[in-house]
Amino acid sequence: MKISKVVSNIPASPTLSITAKVQELRSQGKDVIGFGAGEPDFDTPENIKISAIEAIKEGKTKYTPVGGSPKLKDAVCANIYTDYGLRVTPENVIVSCGAKHSLYNLFLTLFESGDEVLCPSPYWVSYPPMIEIAGATPVIVDTRQTGMKLTAEGVKATITKRTRGIIINSPSNPTGMVIERSELEKIAELCLMHDIIIISDDIYMKILFGDAQFFSIATISPEVAARTFIINGSSKTYAMTGWRIGYCIGDRDVIKAMTRLQSQSTSNPTSFAQEGAIVSLSADQSVVEDRRIIFEKRKDLIVSKILEIPGLDIIPPDGSFYTFPSIKGHLDRFGGANSLAEYLLEKALVAVVPGEGFGAEDHIRLSFATSEKNIIEGLDRIKQVLA
Ligand SMILES: Cc1ncc(COP(=O)(O)O)c(C=O)c1O
Repeated sequence: MKISKVVSNIPASPTLSITAKVQELRSQGKDVIGFGAGEPDFDTPENIKISAIEAIKEGKTKYTPVGGSPKLKDAVCANIYTDYGLRVTPENVIVSCGAKHSLYNLFLTLFESGDEVLCPSPYWVSYPPMIEIAGATPVIVDTRQTGMKLTAEGVKATITKRTRGIIINSPSNPTGMVIERSELEKIAELCLMHDIIIISDDIYMKILFGDAQFFSIATISPEVAARTFIINGSSKTYAMTGWRIGYCIGDRDVIKAMTRLQSQSTSNPTSFAQEGAIVSLSADQSVVEDRRIIFEKRKDLIVSKILEIPGLDIIPPDGSFYTFPSIKGHLDRFGGANSLAEYLLEKALVAVVPGEGFGAEDHIRLSFATSEKNIIEGLDRIKQVLA
């Protein structure tokens, strides 16, 4: 049957196809080490699980309001005040089926044909396709020459009369880079000057290393806050990727329009998953810090192992659970990351995500949401087969 043009043009998610390949090899009995994971390898904390089980037992199994239950919206508002110092009300919040869904609703609500949206690269794989589904054009702002960090200079050079939005993702997937406050201030100034809407995807804000500090562009001034949409969710902070809870905070008229869109597609996110999310946001947060410490230790380990491999180079991540090493020293031999990744999977039984899907064919992404044992063994294997 004929597939619509919009859907025909959507590329398959490269991260998900790597996972599928790994599963296939494992089912053949092969001992594959996977660095593809885009999710914490920890389990959802017990108190969160119990709250959802209790919710089911109590019959909280029916439709909730489309944009999320009042209690969850209140918990999100309280969290935004704690984390950002911003006062928002439930009218500024929509809860969706994961942050990806929040972003999808937002892009579809804000952008259309003729609009350009600035997308710093390397970017999270789903931004450009989602912008294109909305009919708009992603305009790539390459940050490889500026240490993988978006700069006001880079933004300025790509603004046109059609620019309507910009994505800020700090800490970033795939680079782990955090953009400094001073740079965000300059970028915000450009957004005010050119009437550009800011989408701040803060999903990795709680996973930070060393001196890196999260700073939200929305907190610069009330004028900047008024044009910023904050995206966050339960997936990465609380190891709840399968629960599918994400949210968007911003201008109430846009949130209302997004809710209308959601009312004609998914309706509410799963009722008892919302109950788990309420507990995740309201309970003691020490588990988040405990896990951050583990991630930081793994980050130090994987960075040191990557630096041992000739031809690879890395800017250590400030946050997230990803490393994004350059493979420049091997480009002559492999041409690009796709063929290097294929080679690693075949010869070393190690799965990495090639950089092409992130807009950087000269890099690969290795997630360290895996054990120290796997990090040591996996990087040793890579070193061996690349030698
Ligand atoms: C930068 C970024 N934003 C959003 C998401 C979506 O998260 P979820 O839909 O699981 O809440 C991801 C997941 O990988 C991500 O890396």
